[in-house]
Amino acid sequence: MAHRIAPSILAADFARLGEELARVIAAGCDWIHFDVMDNHYVPNLTFGPMICQALKPHAVSSAGVAVPIDVHLMVRPVDALADAFASAGADLISFHPDASSHVHRSIQAIKARGCQAGLAFNPAEPLDVLDWVIEDLDLILVMSVNPGFGGQGFIDSALRKIEQVRARITASGKDIRLEVDGGIKVDNIGRVANAGADTFVAGSAIFGQPDYGVVMQALRAALARR
Ligand code: DX5
Ligand code: ZN
Repeated sequence: MAHRIAPSILAADFARLGEELARVIAAGCDWIHFDVMDNHYVPNLTFGPMICQALKPHAVSSAGVAVPIDVHLMVRPVDALADAFASAGADLISFHPDASSHVHRSIQAIKARGCQAGLAFNPAEPLDVLDWVIEDLDLILVMSVNPGFGGQGFIDSALRKIEQVRARITASGKDIRLEVDGGIKVDNIGRVANAGADTFVAGSAIFGQPDYGVVMQALRAALARR
């Protein structure tokens, strides 16, 4: 499965968001990662469906190919906002199972809106729910930091969790992406890929740098070097 890099616009300059989106797309990103925080499930507040809707027409490469918007909901409850993001142009919508009272229903509701559905697991969250819903998922997101803020350090126990998720995906026989989110840098992306991840969120590693294309190439080179 090809590797994908999903810059998190949480780390972008919000005063120039459209320009930042264009720069990261020109740098060759695969997805746009859109972190939604509600100051309730996590202690921070970011952006809602109106911002997603405003960015959607600009999530297109110079060749005219749409760049998928990967919405990561860190909100409770889940369903109403998931529905609003489906209307706002999200391509993938992930939520945290501990934030939904009815995980199976939330997954079905996202898929019924034509979006791909993902489950996101905090560092201390067990994977047991996958016993019951993995067949319905398009994406499993392993958090390698506690959600709420960009720029945190990678938590090493995520590597074990990634290995366990990869084993579950292989056993399922399904085409499910394994995304890792938090503290991904040029110097650890190789280890994360070796553990079994195929999709990498990177916020501060990309937006903190003067040339996004250079970082994107360095991340891809680190993946190719393994
Ligand atoms: C954390 C977010 C992450 C974060 C990643 O709650 O889900 O997507 O923005 O940022 P970095 O790459 O800076 O850890
Ligand atoms: Zn995220």
